Amino acid sequence: MTPLVTTAADVRSAVAAARAAGQWVGLVPTMGALHAGHAELVRAAKRACDFVVVSVFVNPTQFGPKEDFAKYPRTLDADRQLAADAGGDLVFAPTPAEMYPDGFVTFVEVTKLDEVLCGPRRPGHFRGVATVVLKLLNVVQPDVAVFGAKDAQQAVIIRRMVRDLDVPVAIQVEPTVREADGLAMSSRNRYLSADERAVAPKIYEALKETQARAAGGEIDVARLESGLLAAVAAIPGARVDYANILDAENLTPMTRLDRPALAAVAVFLGTTRLIDNVILG
Ligand code: PAF
Repeated sequence: MTPLVTTAADVRSAVAAARAAGQWVGLVPTMGALHAGHAELVRAAKRACDFVVVSVFVNPTQFGPKEDFAKYPRTLDADRQLAADAGGDLVFAPTPAEMYPDGFVTFVEVTKLDEVLCGPRRPGHFRGVATVVLKLLNVVQPDVAVFGAKDAQQAVIIRRMVRDLDVPVAIQVEPTVREADGLAMSSRNRYLSADERAVAPKIYEALKETQARAAGGEIDVARLESGLLAAVAAIPGARVDYANILDAENLTPMTRLDRPALAAVAVFLGTTRLIDNVILG
């Protein structure tokens, strides 16, 4: 099992020891409930670095008042085992009081990029993400931090934050890991009923269909987007939160597919909100 530390002071001294031994340091920030997708992030960090810290922190500031903070799965022992098996060297699992001590009032906002997709639907979410990620980067001071492409908007926002605030870290984004039937791995998949789980792969099918249309020569983004929306809306029991195609780097609207685009969807199956995306072009 990966050794566990719970304070910023302890993670700093472990990282200092690794650095003193000439090691490169990687960070994989997570909220725990680790699955095979997280294992790939840890393996990628281990390929790039010698000493890999996996943070496990269910970050209260990125959940809305009606979201699943209280019921978010917490599986620290299993997480430590999975992190060890994938090559992690240290798990950092702080308490909320360690991350947000009394009197905490400072937040990071990455504007504009949070005005689309999940931003308006989850007010304050990316402010919470950016704040906790910057804190983790400041505590661990890694050479490389690894994130998953499933949270595409989060990855764009973190890259921009690091660039805008001159944070000395390389941000690495790893491809989405999928179940055999195409469903993107997510800690929230465990909330799905059997019926919801059965139709969930259709989300990725809709995205792949859009990718195929784009590869086949369709460059009109409005047509691609309405096809994507129709395909996702046709999933039995699905309530579409959004289905959008935006510039992959700036998350701005596009009319023609003349540069890489992010096709992203958020869908409710019952009460579970799933997100997924593909890159077009
Ligand atoms: O992607 C996640 O699991 C979280 O948003 C992150 C990056 C660990 C911040 O809490």
